[in-house]
Amino acid sequence: MEFLFISSSRLFTKVTSCFILLLYLLFCASFTTTEAYDALDPTGNITIKWDIMSWTPDGYVAVVTIYNFQQYRHIQAPGWTLGWTWAKKEVIWSMLGGQTTEQGDCSKFKGNIPHCCKKNPTVVDLLPGTPYNQQVANCCKGGVISSWAQDPANAASSFQLSVGSAGTSNRTVRVPKNFTLKAPGPGYTCGPAKIVRPTKFVSTDKRRVTQALMTWNVTCTYSQFLAQKTPTCCVSLSSFYNETIVPCQKCACGCQNNNTQSGSCIEPKTPHLASVVSNSESNSYSPLVQCTSHMCPIRVHWHVKLNYKEYWRVKVTITNFNYNMNYTQWNLVVQHPNFDNLTQIFSFNYKSLTPYGAINDTAMLWGFKFYNDLLMQAGPLGNVQSELLFRKDKSTFTFEKGWAFPRRIYFNGDNCVMPPPDSYPWLPNASSFLFVSPLNLFITLLSTLAFLYGYA
Ligand SMILES: *[C@@H]1O[C@H](CO)[C@@H](O)[C@H](O)[C@H]1NC(C)=O
Ligand SMILES: *[C@@H]1O[C@H](CO)[C@@H](O)[C@H](O)[C@H]1NC(C)=O
Ligand SMILES: *[C@@H]1O[C@H](CO)[C@@H](O)[C@H](O)[C@H]1NC(C)=O
Ligand SMILES: *[C@@H]1O[C@H](CO)[C@@H](O)[C@H](O)[C@H]1NC(C)=O
Ligand SMILES: *[C@@H]1O[C@H](CO)[C@@H](O)[C@H](O)[C@H]1NC(C)=O
Ligand SMILES: *[C@@H]1O[C@H](CO)[C@@H](O)[C@H](O)[C@H]1NC(C)=O
Ligand SMILES: *[C@@H]1O[C@H](CO)[C@@H](O)[C@H](O)[C@H]1NC(C)=O
Ligand SMILES: *[C@@H]1O[C@H](CO)[C@@H](O)[C@H](O)[C@H]1NC(C)=O
Ligand SMILES: *[C@@H]1O[C@H](CO)[C@@H](O)[C@H](O)[C@H]1NC(C)=O
Repeated sequence: MEFLFISSSRLFTKVTSCFILLLYLLFCASFTTTEAYDALDPTGNITIKWDIMSWTPDGYVAVVTIYNFQQYRHIQAPGWTLGWTWAKKEVIWSMLGGQTTEQGDCSKFKGNIPHCCKKNPTVVDLLPGTPYNQQVANCCKGGVISSWAQDPANAASSFQLSVGSAGTSNRTVRVPKNFTLKAPGPGYTCGPAKIVRPTKFVSTDKRRVTQALMTWNVTCTYSQFLAQKTPTCCVSLSSFYNETIVPCQKCACGCQNNNTQSGSCIEPKTPHLASVVSNSESNSYSPLVQCTSHMCPIRVHWHVKLNYKEYWRVKVTITNFNYNMNYTQWNLVVQHPNFDNLTQIFSFNYKSLTPYGAINDTAMLWGFKFYNDLLMQAGPLGNVQSELLFRKDKSTFTFEKGWAFPRRIYFNGDNCVMPPPDSYPWLPNASSFLFVSPLNLFITLLSTLAFLYGYA
């Protein structure tokens, strides 16, 4: 009789927990499938601003600045690529702080040869270490741009160009069309250039204000759908109250051993691993992952670690399985209802992203500069970790129904694949977890460690 009772109440718990998590999932899905609109960063965009600084006999000199107004999506190496189509027969005489990837056909010109004669030029940033006489402010970072929340001082990138065969006044100049921004892959869609009020520049001593002769803006927005990326990240879960470790979903980012390109991976015990990795040809930025059941370059593990009277504690570990990438300035966005009562966070930076004003449940986390802002390539050093201490709000706090686990996680702006809700570790029995035996705790700890450092 008693056995029956227990199992039916367990069944009940399981059914309700599935139901609640299903609701969350639907809620999340309704946002993640929306194109070019990110509920966690509704105004996030990249704005490209052209400031005409002077007119020349056959055109103008402009400073172009790319501002990354996205809270948590940055542009990492190999950096941005900006393209457009000229409205007339413009050419680029010269550039500072950037260059076009192709010169095009300049055979019409004698004597002075332009930098670029293409109808649709493609511009890239110059590399660090560019001679000073070819630089402008905010240039020459190899096209890398920080996200706005993480490092606003480095969230812009500029170059200067001198345009010829163009209009020479604000009535005759034509704005370029069809802007394209790659970062470096697809994902961004740019709107038309709009003429806006000329930018005002304040001198460094703040005693004089100058202004551009003419300014236009282009706004580009990101959509993960357009980027058409397979997932790059997955989530695994564990807790002190249940020894089950819920791994990343099988094939979350691809399936192993399929002889296809996407199914190739490297066994961590391969002899001469380093030389295999460095010889792996082709596109050096495509992931070269360690063989795992999930095949993701990144795994985020959320471990519910401790339960205190007033607080509870979580350990977050990000593991890099990609031999081909040191993630610089990585960031994590995590949604959990207890973030409005986050009390302490160790060794990560924290910023609340408050997309819904009153609801304060989403946090952006990133590493400290020169300490753990670099997530090293796969291997013994390829992980970063932190612990979060939350204050319990008695009206909402519970370890039941998977409440202690995150609702969603983004790594570098891309949605991470969560385990199926019905697999979440559940509370064994209403109260027994409060009296976990030291032996149980020890076993849980050991298996978690084995999982984190092993090759699960
Ligand atoms: C782009 O982002 C900026 C800063 O968040 C915002 O002021 C602006 O309105 C955004 N532009 C568009 C078109 O969303
Ligand atoms: C062009 O410049 C004139 C003054 O030189 C100014 O009155 C006019 O508003 C400008 N037009 C635009 C579109 O900026
Ligand atoms: C700009 O792009 C649109 C749509 O992609 C195309 O129809 C149009 O011809 C392009 N304009 C130019 C000047 O290339
Ligand atoms: C144009 O872009 C600049 C820089 O991103 C921004 O400060 C300005 O508000 C924008 N103007 C309009 C009208 O969106
Ligand atoms: C390889 O993947 C394809 C499609 O992703 C699948 O149809 C096929 O069965 C897989 N082969 C093996 C050996 O797993
Ligand atoms: C990552 O950084 C380490 C140390 O700086 C370097 O040895 C390694 O080659 C880098 N790996 C990649 C893929 O860039
Ligand atoms: C959100 O929660 C954090 C952590 O408790 C707090 O520091 C921040 O002020 C809150 N923000 C809002 C808008 O409530
Ligand atoms: C948790 O945060 C909310 C909103 O900031 C606040 O109203 C509530 O009192 C906090 N609870 C505790 C236990 O601190
Ligand atoms: C731990 O959670 C799993 C679900 O992931 C469940 O199957 C198992 O019964 C739970 N363990 C205990 C002791 O309740």
